[in-house]
Amino acid sequence: MEAIYDFSEDINFKLLKRCANMVTKGATVVFPTETVYGIGANALDRKAVKKIFIAKGRPYDNPLIVHICDYKMLKPLVKNVNKIEKELMKAFWPGPFTIILPKTDIVPDIVTCNMDTVGIRMPSNIIARKMIKYAKVPVAAPSANISGKPSGTDLSDIIDELDDKVNYMINGGACEVGVESTVVRVINDEVVILRPGKITKEDIEKLGFKARLDEHIFSEVEKGDKVLSPGMKHKHYAPNTKTVLVETTNKEKFVKYVDKTIQEGKKVCVISFEEDKKLFKRMKLEFLSLGKSKDLDEISKNLFSMLRKVDGFNVDICFISSVEKKDIGTAIMNRLYRACGYNILKL
Ligand code: TXA
Ligand code: MG
Repeated sequence: MEAIYDFSEDINFKLLKRCANMVTKGATVVFPTETVYGIGANALDRKAVKKIFIAKGRPYDNPLIVHICDYKMLKPLVKNVNKIEKELMKAFWPGPFTIILPKTDIVPDIVTCNMDTVGIRMPSNIIARKMIKYAKVPVAAPSANISGKPSGTDLSDIIDELDDKVNYMINGGACEVGVESTVVRVINDEVVILRPGKITKEDIEKLGFKARLDEHIFSEVEKGDKVLSPGMKHKHYAPNTKTVLVETTNKEKFVKYVDKTIQEGKKVCVISFEEDKKLFKRMKLEFLSLGKSKDLDEISKNLFSMLRKVDGFNVDICFISSVEKKDIGTAIMNRLYRACGYNILKL
């Protein structure tokens, strides 16, 4: 890495401009967005985009989202945008929302992995937007993490992981939302959610549109299944430690199960809620709090940082509490199922 710019307290727009100019010329940069950090490169520069795939060890069949700062930048990239798609953009941009649209020839095939569509997002984070504006080119960016690992939501979580893999990093502090953008595609006038996020099915329905969650959001993709988004097939968000998602309304049973596991001689980590701390207090284990169980926004914000801490404990097994599948809870559970490799313990 050539430099880290620290804009977590104050944004130095002159330096940001300098960094953006390097992006235009082909550099890669880790930068903050309101969802998670991204690894950005000039979306119109094949060579620069290839550097992203190499940095992440990303499979070449998993397309990248292209980030824009205004509608002027959108126009040359996509075609045949319909009324529903336009209204969705108007309602949710700038923000944690990505829409899949038919692409034009300007978008290099490496960005979309030879698909005829491209995912487009206009982020609201000021550093991200200004960087794209100064760069004067759309910026392709996947989440900032080695492929398969939890996304980065705080620069300190990913500096070591990506240090020798990118040209620049921008510190913008902790990401506000914490889970990646909602990804949708409009099919036969219905809005299909391919990846849940802060913008929910209910938010879309409030606009008067029909919406549904794709069938693979809570279930594993089987061999031979057709998927609308290649990302669904890949391993995601997983710590190296064996991780189990616990689904129960009975906390006592959970505590007993954890106790039994410890008695069997296993080293244990529990990721649960603030109010559960006291339940596990007397037990020999590592406890990580996601926040109060009712505060789904807080949980979403902390999720990836907590998942990243697990491997540092050197435990045999990690139990994670599940949340209600409402509001951003749908997105949290989608990430948790994947992080646990669909290893679910119902108590
Ligand atoms: O919040 C976000 O979206 C973050 C920040 C950096 O903007 N980016 C992000 O990118 O999460 P990534 O690459 O980690 O996830 C992009 C997802 C993948 O699951 C990919 O398969 C899907 O979007 N995707 C991208 N282009 C697509 C397309 N043309 N059709 C279907 N799915 C697509
Ligand atoms: Mg990702």
